[in-house]
Amino acid sequence: MTETYLKCDQCGETQSPFPPQFTCNCGGLLEYEYDYEKLGVEANFVGAISLWRYADVMPKVGRENLVTLGEGGTPLQHSKRLGQKLGLKRLYFKDETRNPTNSYRDRCASLIVSNALELDYSTLICASNGNMGASMAAYSSKAGLNCQILVPKKVDEGKLAQMMIYDAILTEAGEILDESIERAIKIVEETHWYQATAELNPLAIEAGKTLAYEIFEQGVVPDWVIVPLGSGGTLYSIWKGFKELKEFGWIEDLPKMVGTQSEACPPVFKAFVEGSETITPIGDSNSIALAILVMNPIRGRKALSSIRDSGGRVEAVSDSEMLNAEKRVAKLEGLFVEPASAATVTCLEKLLDMGVIDDGDTVLCLLTSSGLKVPGVLQVLAKKRKAKGVALNLSMKSQILRMIEFKSSYGYEVWKDLEEAVTLQAVYQHLASLERKGFLSSAKKGEKKFFKITTKGKRALKAIEDLKHL
Ligand SMILES: Cc1ncc(COP(=O)(O)O)c(C=O)c1O
Ligand SMILES: [Zn+2]
Repeated sequence: MTETYLKCDQCGETQSPFPPQFTCNCGGLLEYEYDYEKLGVEANFVGAISLWRYADVMPKVGRENLVTLGEGGTPLQHSKRLGQKLGLKRLYFKDETRNPTNSYRDRCASLIVSNALELDYSTLICASNGNMGASMAAYSSKAGLNCQILVPKKVDEGKLAQMMIYDAILTEAGEILDESIERAIKIVEETHWYQATAELNPLAIEAGKTLAYEIFEQGVVPDWVIVPLGSGGTLYSIWKGFKELKEFGWIEDLPKMVGTQSEACPPVFKAFVEGSETITPIGDSNSIALAILVMNPIRGRKALSSIRDSGGRVEAVSDSEMLNAEKRVAKLEGLFVEPASAATVTCLEKLLDMGVIDDGDTVLCLLTSSGLKVPGVLQVLAKKRKAKGVALNLSMKSQILRMIEFKSSYGYEVWKDLEEAVTLQAVYQHLASLERKGFLSSAKKGEKKFFKITTKGKRALKAIEDLKHL
């Protein structure tokens, strides 16, 4: 049996791990601790690489209560093409999109739902901005438990769809995750439901540790580990895992931990840059990386001290940088990830440019979740692709002619209808040339010059149509 106890991160007081407590009387957060000397001797990892292979370094769950959908054991991909472009020989992606609900949060959900079952709870509550909610909903279904999820106003559609299909009860609570978490704390005080919010439940950290164990057992000990950073628990849990590996004498050097935040919501980045110990809540929800938008990160200080102790850094990245990185990772590596995950790649590129990461270093980017969960990004990409695709079939001139045949229009409107696939200036040039050749005529209406298709223009379009059907 794994001997564990809960220790407060503020006053140091220890408590028995069961029944579950999430906060100490002093207001500090509790965390699982182990007798490492004993564990180092006794830890015995059995079975294929998966979350439950590491049961010995997590709080105990009875076999009969274990709720699993096949989480963990995700591929560690050696990036050859992107790595080569960046001049890095040893770039690795831990592909957490391959979990049962397509994010690394399945690790947490498996352990937490198993614990709730073991402790005889029938209802769980979880505040989440998406991935944890999707995971909790799926694992609760598997276990036959009721799942209540509190979500902020903006949630990625794919994640919402997952929560709904698994039949969780959804309630909107606040603008941003921080407010949903506050509500979840209050509800648990009133109802005594099981608190499954990842930011509060210390089992989330124990489950997150397995990422470090897997990476190590898959043969890589990185110099740098780059992680998307919201509330900070994920980064901290991986650091804890590597520290345990060092404690057991299995690795010699610890990796440098790097956190990536969105420019829209960068409280940990700000504290890091200012050299501050305290994290001041800042930010808003205006970013495509909803998964990492946390104004007041609960495990932020833990994450910050891990980053500082390891010699790592925090970077903030913009939406367009994330979107471009998302495309590059897909195009060069065949991996489709959500914007928050792609942020790790932007961050890597920045650190290479700054000379912080060296081309001889071993780097691991944690790809936390699938791009299919965030269809908003798909729409942006699809729009551009559609305009480009049409342009391949018809030349730009015939495309413009077709649009004006459908409705008389002016330059700026044509350009907008083309979804800005070419420059406005190019549209004006095409219009002028079509008019010169007699395919269009024009008339001024107020400030605007409206174009109309001529009989010659209609004949030209018909000829193109006939050619297409030859
Ligand atoms: C896809 C994704 N990446 C990264 C994170 C950040 O984790 P944390 O809030 O623990 O820092 C989350 C949080 O849920 C997430 O969903
Ligand atoms: Zn305390």
